[in-house]
Amino acid sequence: MKELTGKVAVVTGGNSGIGAAIVLELAERGAQVVIDYVAHPEAENELERKIASLGSRAVGVKADISLVADIELLVSRAVSTFGQLDIFVNNAGIETRTSVLDTSESQYDKVLAINLKSAFFSTQIAARQMIKQEAGGRIINITSVHEDWPMPGNTAYCLSKGGMRMLTRTAALELAPHGILVTAVGPGAVATPINLSTMKDPALMQKLDSVIPLGRMAKPEEIAQVVGFLSGGGASYMTAATLFVDGGLMHQSPGL
Ligand SMILES: NC(=O)c1ccc[n+]([C@@H]2O[C@H](COP(=O)([O-])OP(=O)(O)OC[C@H]3O[C@@H](n4cnc5c(N)ncnc54)[C@H](O)[C@@H]3O)[C@@H](O)[C@H]2O)c1
Repeated sequence: MKELTGKVAVVTGGNSGIGAAIVLELAERGAQVVIDYVAHPEAENELERKIASLGSRAVGVKADISLVADIELLVSRAVSTFGQLDIFVNNAGIETRTSVLDTSESQYDKVLAINLKSAFFSTQIAARQMIKQEAGGRIINITSVHEDWPMPGNTAYCLSKGGMRMLTRTAALELAPHGILVTAVGPGAVATPINLSTMKDPALMQKLDSVIPLGRMAKPEEIAQVVGFLSGGGASYMTAATLFVDGGLMHQSPGL
């Protein structure tokens, strides 16, 4: 039997980039998965087909995670389709690449709603369901090196990820008595659609690779494998922690 057989997971922003890799990783480990998406239903359908070929099951749900009612829909679909909820991955996220001086009110509101408000209410709604089930659970937040590391020119994004860091730690303490473990995965630079403009610019790519000690961006699967670990028995004593998966980026030496 696979490690996550019988477990049910929800992954937000699950039909592209890191989210799609997480969906596949959890399914490969035996979980049944609710794939949240807002666009590109064809990519979601393709994932469902792949998962069926792995011998597991997935269902796509169109839900805008900046809306609490849509998060409730994700959890209720997990329960109505698969009978329970064990793992909730807060993966969806956006950035505006704008500074303190030029971020508009609507840009600020959108980034904070999709990245941080969603993670807060997903934690609340998922945890209420897990408490009802009396079998614990896992909540995993996909943050970033920027939960800790300032990025001039991407202020609202850094704020949102810093907020997710404190959400991870605080919710972990509140939910520990219920056996619900709350952790975060903080990727460095990953080759996904969010980085398309950088990936299309060879000079920028060379500059980026040169500051990453491992010398390259991560593949989405390299982040997903860590989420798979945090979802399973090997991580049974981990809570309130972030695992940074950044090729050494945060600890680079300035070479002086
Ligand atoms: N790629 C990187 O270098 C990198 C680095 C650190 C952290 N991250 C984080 O990883 C996560 C996934 O990003 P990615 O790199 O795979 O990029 P991506 O753009 O492929 O994924 C983001 C996903 O979020 C979804 N999304 C956006 N708004 C939504 C909404 N309102 N409701 C539901 N879903 C919504 C998008 O449709 C998309 O599927 C994000 O939280 C991002 O901040 C990425």
